[in-house]
Amino acid sequence: MGCGSIIPSLLLSTTCYGGVLFSSLQRTIVVTASPKEGQVLNAGVDKITVTWALNKTEPYGIDSTYKTIKVKLCYAPVSQHDRPWRKTEDNLSRDKTCQHKIVWKPYDASNKTTQNFEWSIGRDVPTATYFIRALEYDQNNMEVAYGQTTNEKKSTNLFEINGVTGKHTSLDISFVCFSVFSVVALSVFFYIEKRKGKVASSVEQK
Ligand SMILES: *[C@@H]1O[C@H](CO)[C@@H](O)[C@H](O)[C@H]1NC(C)=O
Ligand SMILES: *[C@@H]1O[C@H](CO)[C@@H](O)[C@H](O)[C@H]1NC(C)=O
Ligand SMILES: *[C@@H]1O[C@H](CO)[C@@H](O)[C@H](O)[C@H]1NC(C)=O
Repeated sequence: MGCGSIIPSLLLSTTCYGGVLFSSLQRTIVVTASPKEGQVLNAGVDKITVTWALNKTEPYGIDSTYKTIKVKLCYAPVSQHDRPWRKTEDNLSRDKTCQHKIVWKPYDASNKTTQNFEWSIGRDVPTATYFIRALEYDQNNMEVAYGQTTNEKKSTNLFEINGVTGKHTSLDISFVCFSVFSVVALSVFFYIEKRKGKVASSVEQK
């Protein structure tokens, strides 16, 4: 499992046929979350409350095509640097900014009340700097609008999460793999020695 640590990141990228450009989406949703700017939370321990609502200044009916809302945890630029597996792409079918699902819900255009959700930070969330984004999808499951807890440049109101596996670098993983290998090798060695011993003692007895 740990030996193939590159594979999971390939499986996480969200897929959506056609590929809408993020830059073409309207920012109509107001998203807020409980972490304060710069706060450090712990994966597997802390919770985040996310709140979202249609911006009240938007004209009536702008949300008529919204069918589903997906709220996700997203990497801030500082945690994407030199990590192509977290890279931001304007084409959303290739975008890897937001890899952790917080909640997916049907969007009820008739219900404009503020919605919220309390999320326990998953143990699989790695140490990084984050923000939260909500994406609205239409009936064809195409992105139509969004909202996020940070500004357009993704530079304000960011928070940090300390991962459970934060200390488990690839060095630790290779150490575990090596240890497993050593145990197997040792067992094989003893097995061979034991057989040799048996053969030797049976030869001696004759
Ligand atoms: C986005 O990428 C997908 C897959 O690479 C491609 O099929 C689609 O045409 C692209 N969309 C745009 C708008 O460039
Ligand atoms: C709501 O939309 C208006 C107009 O686009 C914008 O100026 C305002 O900042 C938005 N409000 C929030 C809380 O994002
Ligand atoms: C509107 O949404 C709120 C929060 O999810 C919910 O408690 C309420 O029952 C909903 N109202 C209607 C009319 O669906």
